[in-house]
Amino acid sequence: MNYEQSFKLWQSDGEAFWSDAAKALQWDKPFKTAWQQAPSGGGHWFPDGELNLCYNAVDRHVDEGRGEQIALIYDSPVSNTKAQYSFADVQSEVAKLAGAMQSMGIVQGDRVVIYMPMIPQASFAMLACARLGAIHSVVFGGFSSLELAKRIDDAQPKLVMSASHGIEPGRLVEYKPLLDEALAQAAHQVDNCLIWQRPGCELTLQAGRDRDWASAVEVSAPVGCVSLPSTHPLYILYTSGTTGISKGVVRDTGGYATALHWSMEAIYGARQGDVFWAASDIGWVVGHSYIVYGPLLAGCTTVMYEGKPVGTPDAGAFWRVIEEYRVKVLFTAPTAFRAIKKEDPRAELLEQYNLSHFEALFLAGERGDPDTLRWANKILDRVVIDHWWQTELGWPAVANFRGLGLLPVEYGSAGKPVPGFDVVILDEQHNELPLGEGGDIAIRLPLAPGSFPTLWNNDEGFRKSYLDAHPGFYNTGDYGHFDQHGNLYVMSRTDDIINVAGHRLSTGAIEEAVGEADDVAECAVIGVADPLKGTVPIALVVAYSEFKGSEQDLSAAVIKMVREKIGAVASLKTVIQVSRLPKTRSGKILRATMRKIADGESYTVPGTIDDPAILDEIAASFKRLGR
Ligand code: COA
Ligand code: AMP
Repeated sequence: MNYEQSFKLWQSDGEAFWSDAAKALQWDKPFKTAWQQAPSGGGHWFPDGELNLCYNAVDRHVDEGRGEQIALIYDSPVSNTKAQYSFADVQSEVAKLAGAMQSMGIVQGDRVVIYMPMIPQASFAMLACARLGAIHSVVFGGFSSLELAKRIDDAQPKLVMSASHGIEPGRLVEYKPLLDEALAQAAHQVDNCLIWQRPGCELTLQAGRDRDWASAVEVSAPVGCVSLPSTHPLYILYTSGTTGISKGVVRDTGGYATALHWSMEAIYGARQGDVFWAASDIGWVVGHSYIVYGPLLAGCTTVMYEGKPVGTPDAGAFWRVIEEYRVKVLFTAPTAFRAIKKEDPRAELLEQYNLSHFEALFLAGERGDPDTLRWANKILDRVVIDHWWQTELGWPAVANFRGLGLLPVEYGSAGKPVPGFDVVILDEQHNELPLGEGGDIAIRLPLAPGSFPTLWNNDEGFRKSYLDAHPGFYNTGDYGHFDQHGNLYVMSRTDDIINVAGHRLSTGAIEEAVGEADDVAECAVIGVADPLKGTVPIALVVAYSEFKGSEQDLSAAVIKMVREKIGAVASLKTVIQVSRLPKTRSGKILRATMRKIADGESYTVPGTIDDPAILDEIAASFKRLGR
């Protein structure tokens, strides 16, 4: 079946389309109903069916005779470690870990926070939760203890699973002290912590609360998979909203498993036995869907890479991994390729490697700039596919389709709507706009399986954030247009979210942190173009009149505060001290105008500005920084 046929089939009867796709999974209790409205206004797929995602991703392959196939490859240039686990190995690791968790009182519905580096134990932890029906919430290692504490308070976990440390190039990130600090800050009391002690930096465990992971697993008995309703929450994943409070995106089980399984072949062209590598982090949705669950559901071998595209040790790192493990499909963010291009513009390191097994590169997480995509295509001589999705949707909503006959690739566009997603462009009055006209990117309800049914304990927030803007549609928060051939161009956000090196951040949240620095009277944070990270935040800061220090002092204090409040991932490196901020007469800060000045775009001075001269001061500051 080709893309057009598949899309038409879905349009003619979406419930039948997805019911058919769901048959690829092993159901403990078959579903009779395909879709049901959820109280939030979102939807539940296969609500009366029962299954276990860990069973489908792991045990099933063992039961069907593929136990010896490699399921997970761990490659860590930062710790000089490599390991491979067959499906039978993963089953044994996960069953024993689930046993240890069960002995600590973890049962179906309990929340478990996972704060871990990119090591196999992190995947085992997620799968062990899925095995027991515990709801995991993975927190990216680059977040501060305060961000971790906020997530602990919202998810209210019984157990936190963590590790002694992560490894960033040139430094150890000690997770245990960050975790201790977070637990001290959180109002919610966690019963137990299970700590994986990595070699090189073993930390003291707190008696009564912390348990050594390896010893707990050693004495535990393996446990089997619990049958769960398809609507059971598999995980909560917090993502940036427009304020300092992140949104707890809920993912349910049956719809997600169906969508991921379908996508592996239809979109990525990956089949049982193929090696699939998503070079991301388990802390992001890409890691959940395409490092852990998707490839394993499809019986692929997944690669877990603890390293960077450059510097670990050089810009040939990706080519080395592709060659060594015969990777067929690579998925990463465009920023990774910009980093490689910067270090090795002629891709000379590529000549040392044999990439004959490699077939396709997929990019997402931020706008795929045509220059980078063309460069990747030129050096690799393979198809390069940009595709678009969000944490909320769980898997791609707009893509190209290696399993349905590849469509012509248009650089700059994220491709065509995936069956299951009726993507439209709307104006402010909710009218559908014709091809070529820009507006809000929205998706007609119901959303495809795999997309979120609600926010954790917050149906009202779900409706307010996503459904109220355009009745009958899910509002993506992105702005863009379709071209005459139906290709979607995602151009920008309609809110204050920015994508920094493929990491989703809110300038509003960074602004809140900047405002907490001692000498800051007023501030604005804007996202400006960056040749490596796509976008980076810049803070413009007005100090209190009594502040007598230098701009460097102020800048250092602000950067420290943002690292403490949000974490290193916020990537705030530039702080500009200004005498005042440009505002309209009604007091609205002119962030968009400042961004245009910083990016060298043309702008008009708004008629409502209270003091036009300040824009010259700001332009001069940007110029001083070489912008
Ligand atoms: N734990 C602790 N700290 C982390 C971390 C983690 N898991 N991940 C990142 N950080 C830190 C980094 O060390 C860095 O700290 P620094 O400012 O002290 O140097 C900071 O957070 C910002 O990280 P990042 O934005 O990733 O920048 P970088 O300079 O370390 O690397 C790239 C830049 C482009 C090489 C890297 O972002 C990359 O490989 N991106 C592509 C893949 C990807 O991750 N995509 C995500 C979504 S698909
Ligand atoms: P996240 O939830 O972290 O996956 O971030 C989702 C947001 O990243 C989207 O709403 C877009 O703003 C942006 N994004 C993701 N993929 C793309 C893409 N292929 N092109 C343009 N923007 C993208």
